[in-house]
Amino acid sequence: MPGPRRNVELKATDPHPQRSLEVVRGLGAEDQGVLHQRDTYFRVPSGRLKLREQEPGGASLVQYDRVDAAEARESRYRLVPVSDPAETREALEAALGTLAVVEKDRHLLLWEGVRIHLDDVVGLGSFIELEGVAAEGSDLLSELERVTQLTEALDIAPERILRTSYSDQVLGFDALIDAARAVMARAHAPYSRFHVGAALRAEDGSIHVGANVENAAFPLGNCAEASAVGALIAAGRREIAEAAVIGDGDEPCVPCGGCRQRLRELMPLSGTVHLLADTGAHATMKLEELLPRSFGPEFLP
Ligand code: THU
Repeated sequence: MPGPRRNVELKATDPHPQRSLEVVRGLGAEDQGVLHQRDTYFRVPSGRLKLREQEPGGASLVQYDRVDAAEARESRYRLVPVSDPAETREALEAALGTLAVVEKDRHLLLWEGVRIHLDDVVGLGSFIELEGVAAEGSDLLSELERVTQLTEALDIAPERILRTSYSDQVLGFDALIDAARAVMARAHAPYSRFHVGAALRAEDGSIHVGANVENAAFPLGNCAEASAVGALIAAGRREIAEAAVIGDGDEPCVPCGGCRQRLRELMPLSGTVHLLADTGAHATMKLEELLPRSFGPEFLP
């Protein structure tokens, strides 16, 4: 069975798509026309899984795992042709749940083995993507070189480069909050009757959840954040990029002292924490504000 395919890719916002089109045409890029794509992203424990329905061209299931990085980076992916997209979408929706739907028009051009995507994404705006498709066994250096050459020709400044997928941008905050709220409803809190849900976004964009689990022997109860940290580690992730905690009280739920320290272990102090109440009240702050002058792994010899 063939392994995953690889490419070197870069994504950036594009304030002047018409100018970009002229630049790449001027370089001799081959115009492949405009494709309409509808991507349905499913809720999976690691990496990303989406069903792409494309006109013209048909449908495929795309699995990939990419660490978000603000530079041209390697991506590994699998593409599986799908003959019955509607039925496949329903099956995956029923089994996994849908995370986001992203729709766009993609103007595709090819230059020296690099796919150039001029994307007009519904609700997000215009972007440019460069994908240096790797030859089998390639060390990726020549692909990186060509992507860099195009980045320079297109005058893409570093601050325009994006770290996340379109699905993360569509989802962002809402997906994290929805996940925290859904898991809160599954809390086991018969003693305090205070239900708490926590959702953590890991470094790859995946979301991991946990609820509080109380015990008749009271001190054995577990906070929601502790359960969510366990789920993130069990899924093979190591870093928390963003956290949301929701309780069914009137005021935004604040993590207890112990849980602030639990987040601190895996999260940068600059990481964002959202505190929410089921009533809609919420507050957003940096971990540093919740836990100033904190102790962390870097203090250990
Ligand atoms: N709780 C959490 O799950 N997270 C917090 O940050 C605050 C408190 C839970 C623990 C216990 O099950 C219930 O809320 C009441 O303290």
